Amino acid sequence: MKTAPSGHAHTHSNGHANGHASSHAGHDRLIEPRKKASRSSLAAHAKFLAEFISHPGRMGAVAASGPALAKRMAAQIDWANTRAIVEYGPGTGTVTEELIKHVKPGTKFFAIERSPELAAVCRRRLPQVHLYEDSAENIVEICRAEGVEQLDVVVSCLPWASFPESLQDSILTATMKALKPGGKFVGFGYQMGLLTPAGRRFHGRLPRYFENIGRSRPVWLNIPPALVFTGDRRQQPDFVPGASR
Ligand SMILES: C[S@@+](CC[C@H](N)C(=O)[O-])C[C@H]1O[C@@H](n2cnc3c(N)ncnc32)[C@H](O)[C@@H]1O
Repeated sequence: MKTAPSGHAHTHSNGHANGHASSHAGHDRLIEPRKKASRSSLAAHAKFLAEFISHPGRMGAVAASGPALAKRMAAQIDWANTRAIVEYGPGTGTVTEELIKHVKPGTKFFAIERSPELAAVCRRRLPQVHLYEDSAENIVEICRAEGVEQLDVVVSCLPWASFPESLQDSILTATMKALKPGGKFVGFGYQMGLLTPAGRRFHGRLPRYFENIGRSRPVWLNIPPALVFTGDRRQQPDFVPGASR
């Protein structure tokens, strides 16, 4: 398990979780930030695309989620009653940036990203987020490292429809161990992904683990169009026999 280098604080509160850069005095600041932001966001897009080319099955998309999808995801969460929340697959941090705007003081927020290249981009963009460079399959161990007994919310940005069955099962099974009964699972999927065999299998599996499953209208502004799905962890999930965790 590889964590953020020391000096990267846990986002326990939203003290500086709004993505505002610390202010530096000087007139050139009025001109500089725009150039920097667009250059770094171009670099982030390029990294995302390069990752897709190298690992299409892990990425599931050629472009990062847009703000409309991120807002739709954040709106599913009861922030006032959330004490511990994780994001799976933050990538370059587009959804993360929206989530941390809502995190209440005292709430633990951390993220797990498998790609070292994208984790590096996310760290640069959001240094206040405690980011684990690891697989979501290891959520139980990561919660232990965080001192979290049970999570209230799991936000998933994972491309489930691109995953093999065994990976879908092992992440879902591990998630059942980390998420409290009744805890919220919020994910997104691409319209097209729902039609693939792996996408259909994943959504068909969800009722074993979650109740009150909901699906949003498509977020057409996202590229590609996506929808948000939610579920509440069952009191007694029906674990898949043989799943590794
Ligand atoms: C569809 S991209 C989403 C990225 C970003 N959150 C967004 O919405 O644009 C999926 C992300 O999940 C990451 N990922 C894939 N498998 C993973 C795993 N087993 N554990 C953690 N992250 C994973 C990928 O590296 C990628 O960053």
